[in-house]
Amino acid sequence: MSAGFIVTGTDTGVGKTIFAAGLTAALCGRYWKPIQAGLDGETDGEVVRRLTADSDVEILNEIYRLKQLMSPHLAAARDGVEIDLARLTLPQARKVPVLAAVAPQEAAAERSNIVALKPRGRSGLTAVPGNGTATATTRPLVIEGAGGALVPLTRQALQIDVFDSWALPVVIVARTSLGTINHSLLTIEALRRRNIMIQGVAFVGDANPEVEDDIANFGRVRRLGRLPWIQPLDEPTLKRTFDLSFRMEDFQQ
Ligand SMILES: Nc1ncnc2c1ncn2[C@@H]1O[C@H](COP(=O)(O)OP(=O)(O)O)[C@@H](O)[C@H]1O
Ligand SMILES: [Mg+2]
Repeated sequence: MSAGFIVTGTDTGVGKTIFAAGLTAALCGRYWKPIQAGLDGETDGEVVRRLTADSDVEILNEIYRLKQLMSPHLAAARDGVEIDLARLTLPQARKVPVLAAVAPQEAAAERSNIVALKPRGRSGLTAVPGNGTATATTRPLVIEGAGGALVPLTRQALQIDVFDSWALPVVIVARTSLGTINHSLLTIEALRRRNIMIQGVAFVGDANPEVEDDIANFGRVRRLGRLPWIQPLDEPTLKRTFDLSFRMEDFQQ
């Protein structure tokens, strides 16, 4: 299991926050939205908090809370600040009791064979089988980006540059409606160009299997599943729908 995932989208408003809430709950993870642009109404962190209220998760504080609903570099300028990339380092992993920290299907396997932490390539720390004496692991981090991958954070840097420095696999959240093939393949190309690992594409919306296939085939990416429109959009319904829509094995390798 990776130390976490970056959730990006093919666009703003595609369903990243709802997907990230479902994923955070499924992983018993930590949700982090480092840059929140737009403070009118519920923030993304507040939506995730509401949709995971009864789940074993943590919601981390944002680094930047910008008033305007705009691209981060512009929202920051309106607030008279410049985003300092050095402040966007990954939050420290914190150990928590292992049975609370792992996904349910892993819990049984790890119950008697508890884990130690060791570095693993680009993904940072990961839990590995130990000799049964340790009692803690870390919660996977679920990072929600602002808008899409090529959104500017400053006049010099795009969000994708920060994704690269975080070295975590990316989940692309994509619509299933008209226009998504182009947006999805462009996002995949941009990530590939920078050698950023792509975990797969998570679709949101009505079923459109041919289009989902085309994206997976042309983009050579894993199709993680599709979150349908959920009604009512509350925690139990999201949890149930997420479990039916995604296989956790796809997030474990
Ligand atoms: N699976 C879903 N079922 C119902 N409504 C959804 C779903 N996914 C997203 N929405 C709604 O669509 C809007 C945009 O979703 P959101 O997750 O905030 O997008 P993003 O984070 O990509 O900007 C929100 O009003 C959200 O409640
Ligand atoms: Mg969002």
